[in-house]
Amino acid sequence: MDKILITGGTGMVGKAIKEIVKDNSSYHFSYSHEADLSKYQSCYDLFVKYKPTKVIHLAANVGGLYKNINEKVDMLEKNLLINLNVVKCSYQFGVKHFIGCLSTCIFPDKTTYPIHEKMLHNGPPHISNDSYAYAKRMLEIQCNAYREQYGCNFMCIIPTNIYGPHDNFNLTDSHVIPGLIHKCYLAKKNSQDFIVSGTGKPLRQFIYSRDLAKFILWILNNEISNESLILAPNPDDEISIEQVAKRIAKEFNYPDRLTYDNTRSDGQYRKTADNKCLRQLYGDLDLTSIESGIKETVHWFQNNFQNCRK
Ligand SMILES: NC(=O)c1ccc[n+]([C@@H]2O[C@H](COP(=O)([O-])OP(=O)(O)OC[C@H]3O[C@@H](n4cnc5c(N)ncnc54)[C@H](OP(=O)(O)O)[C@@H]3O)[C@@H](O)[C@H]2O)c1
Repeated sequence: MDKILITGGTGMVGKAIKEIVKDNSSYHFSYSHEADLSKYQSCYDLFVKYKPTKVIHLAANVGGLYKNINEKVDMLEKNLLINLNVVKCSYQFGVKHFIGCLSTCIFPDKTTYPIHEKMLHNGPPHISNDSYAYAKRMLEIQCNAYREQYGCNFMCIIPTNIYGPHDNFNLTDSHVIPGLIHKCYLAKKNSQDFIVSGTGKPLRQFIYSRDLAKFILWILNNEISNESLILAPNPDDEISIEQVAKRIAKEFNYPDRLTYDNTRSDGQYRKTADNKCLRQLYGDLDLTSIESGIKETVHWFQNNFQNCRK
């Protein structure tokens, strides 16, 4: 029977996978206090302990726009080290299927749309997240090197912006949806304006964490062997930050105090990704609508406010 190691198993995506796997006994969900994967020996010891046959590698130093701008050294070095160690150990321990996790935010800044899998290295990433992006790009290079030199089935998934329960809702470090949910919660509580950083104009594709988990498990169970695969909704499901903020405000029943702080950075204007390969392989994606996903996430945040990451 396969033994599956999920690195970053306590994060938003790891928790979503845990919620939908029927038999937990063949899965091990690791996290940083069990093994700091940026240290080779600690990573090696984890592999000795669990001897995985398959790996879903989610562990990463992750954050939104402002963490990417303000913590460039950590975003580069931690992610490079984590990926280097996990891929190397996967090879050393004979892992037969490895799934590494990239992101559509690491694609070139100046590009044509929609972006597809083969365009990853066609130009520099946006300056705001270049450290994170280059570290993630090296994960793809490393997986391809192991594929070519040793014939390993090491592949990378490329999700768009993910959101859902168990996300990081911190006001400065978080991604856009959890950050806005926390802000709107506080604005309503204190009867203040709900201030969105930037103009609200940038466009994004969002995927609900449970939908992403479903695709990752399908890739795992079918041992999909593409070099990389974009996991995203259709390009025409792209929506603006303004639409997201309005939806969140509606969910909190606090629609009238929404304002925009145009002095804050917008980041990249759009990153529209092509999900053609995914649709060809998977068929009907049957995704959670942004309305339902935001509704569930807002309710989860309200019900877990005391203990959630924030
Ligand atoms: N969130 C998004 O919008 C988004 C979009 C595209 C791609 N991705 C990618 O999707 C993956 C999962 O993201 P997520 O949002 O689920 O992340 P997350 O909630 O921030 O979770 C990160 C996970 O990585 C672990 N981790 C961090 N540093 C580690 C270290 N040095 N050693 C071992 N484990 C470490 C954390 O463990 P602790 O809990 O112990 O700290 C946690 O389990 C990441 O690879 C990310 O780059 C995310």
